[in-house]
Order: sequence, then C-alpha cells, then structure tokens
Amino acid sequence: MTILAIETSCDETAAAVLRNGVMRANIIYSQTEHLKYGGVVPELASRAHIAKIHSVVQEALVKSDTMLGDIDLVAATCGPGLIGSLHVGLTFAKGLALARSLPLLGINHLEGHLYSATIEYPQLQPPFLCLIVSGGHTILANVLDYGECKILGQTQDDAAGEAFDKVAKILGLPYPGGPALERTAATGDPHYVDFPVAQLRQAPFDFSFSGLKTAVLYHAQALSEQERQRRLPDIAASFQRAVTRALSKSLVAAMEATGETSVALVGGVAQNNTLRQHLQSLVEAGAGTFFAPSAEYCADNAGMIAQAAYLLAGKRPPSPLSLSAVPNLPLATINADGEPSPVLQS
Ligand code: KG4
Ligand code: ZN
Repeated sequence: MTILAIETSCDETAAAVLRNGVMRANIIYSQTEHLKYGGVVPELASRAHIAKIHSVVQEALVKSDTMLGDIDLVAATCGPGLIGSLHVGLTFAKGLALARSLPLLGINHLEGHLYSATIEYPQLQPPFLCLIVSGGHTILANVLDYGECKILGQTQDDAAGEAFDKVAKILGLPYPGGPALERTAATGDPHYVDFPVAQLRQAPFDFSFSGLKTAVLYHAQALSEQERQRRLPDIAASFQRAVTRALSKSLVAAMEATGETSVALVGGVAQNNTLRQHLQSLVEAGAGTFFAPSAEYCADNAGMIAQAAYLLAGKRPPSPLSLSAVPNLPLATINADGEPSPVLQS
C-alpha cells in the first residue's frame, strides 16, 4: 500500500510517501516569507503553498521512486489550521484523487501529531498517553485505540509553543521564538527566578501559560536595559523550567490516574531538549517508557499525516471529494458511552 500525504495547515509545505508502513520520503519546505514579519502571515502562507506544492509533491515522488500509478491512497490535512493554507493542500490532493481515480482520506492535523512517534517507534501502540505541544495546541490525551482518544487536559489559554514565541518576543529574540529561546537558555540559570506554574484545581490535567508569560514580561520590565541583556539567558532558562514543570505536573498526574506507562511527547515544542530530557527522566522514574519523534517528525510534516492515514485507513471510509477544510477541527474523542465521536465534517 503506497500513501501520498500532503500537509499545508500552517507555514510548512510538505509531502510524504509511505510504502507498506515504511517512510520513503518526507519533504518539508519551511516558508521563510514570514521571517521579517515576526509571525505567520496567513495570506502569504497560502500564496507560498500554491507556489511550492507542486515541486514539493514532485520531490517526494522522485525521492521515493514512486510513479503516480503506484499510489493507492491520497491523504491530506483537512484541519485544524489556516483556512487558505489548508485549502491549497486539500484541493491539490482532491485534484490528484479525481484525476487518478484514487481514494482520498482527510486527516486531522492533531491526529497526525498524535501518532507521529509511532513512525520511528513501532513498538509504541495504544493504549498510551500523548502530550501534544505545538504552536497552536497543548493537549494531553489518552490514546485508547487507533482513532479513539480521550482528551484528559488542554490549555485554557496560550499553547506551550505560543508561550515560547511570545516570551521570545518579549525578550527581543528572533522569530521563531522556541528554538531561539532554547539556545539562549542553554547558558542560563534555570533557578534565577521561580516563575509561577498555574494550579488548576478543578482541572488537574489542564494547562495555563498566559500568567507565566505576564510574569516574564513584568520581570523583564523591572530590569534596566543593561541588566536585562545580562540576565537574558537566566530569564530564558527560568521560563523554560516553568513550562517544563507545568507539563510535567499534568503528565505525572495523568500517568497516576490512568495507569498508562507508555508516554509520547510530540509536536514542535517536543524538539526542546531540556523538556525531552526532563520528561524522559520523569516517565522512566515512574517505570514508564518514553517516546519522542526526531525533529523532522516533531515540527509540521506530511510523514505524520501519511502515518495517521496508514493507521486509520482500515477504520474510516474514504472522504468525499466535497470534504471541507475546517480551521478549528477538534481532535476526535470518545463520548461518555465509549463511542467515537465523528472526526470529519464533510
Ligand atoms: O508543531 P509545530 O511545528 O506547528 C504547529 O502545529 O503549531 O510547532 C511550532 C511551535 C512554535 O511555537 C515553535 O516556537 C515551537 O514549536 N518550537 C519550540 C522549539 N522548536 C520549535 N519550542 C521550544 N523549543 C524548541 N526547540
Ligand atoms: Zn502541528
């Protein structure tokens, strides 16, 4: 079975080919158009996807030695994400499916992240806990089976990656903020400031990062410019420690509450080495097994969309060509009766 997958939900134009469960190509073009604006400009993102989609798909086919006639299934991200960006990839996939009479499978971007660690770690199988930490989402989920998960907690305000990006901006670091902040924190003292970690008593698995962001802002504003520059690594390291503590707290509570011992850390922020190492130690201290994808499968990529399609194809019918892109598509969950809720709206 050969799957061609396309992912264009934000500012990465990506295509992948998965053949019989083996990733043969995972091509990612990260748009540089947004750098000078300090954030993703949706209209520019759509235009850049249009300019790049054909060559990125072509590259994936060539690298994987795949002819159009070899493809059995076309998968594409149908949400959540930027509506214009989603449309480019989904419409391209629909065109290909229509022209070649191939089945189409719309994939939820979050389900892509959810199963992304299984690409390199096939031993990771449901049930497991998955912490998705990306620029737009922070979700702690219990994956019960392929296509069935229970959301245990999520952020009540900013996503973890969003907090990294906003704090990086406050500290005058370049965009994208996450990697810049991690580099700055490398030489800093993580115990310089005890930034607050939100305690959400009613929702012990939820997260909140907006108070932390404000605390960093107030701290930075209280320092002279010279002192702020001198303390930059210490502030960055202290912030990174606070985010790590917040994520650890909910994860440990979820391990205890569910009894799950397999834990995956996924999404763009999962590239953060301090976070990875800390969570790995915690999980292993609790006699669990920790999984995190390598960088190419943490950030947005089509490989994870292909993998989700591979795992879900037998469980879901092909999507109609009328399938819509849905900017706020929620992660599929199970309801109180244990029945899966509908994943895709067409
Ligand atoms: O999953 P992703 O590529 O895109 C979304 O679906 O949102 O995640 C992007 C996020 C950005 O907020 C970026 O700053 C963050 O991941 N990020 C990091 C690191 N690398 C990327 N955050 C912390 N440390 C990093 N090394
Ligand atoms: Zn993502």
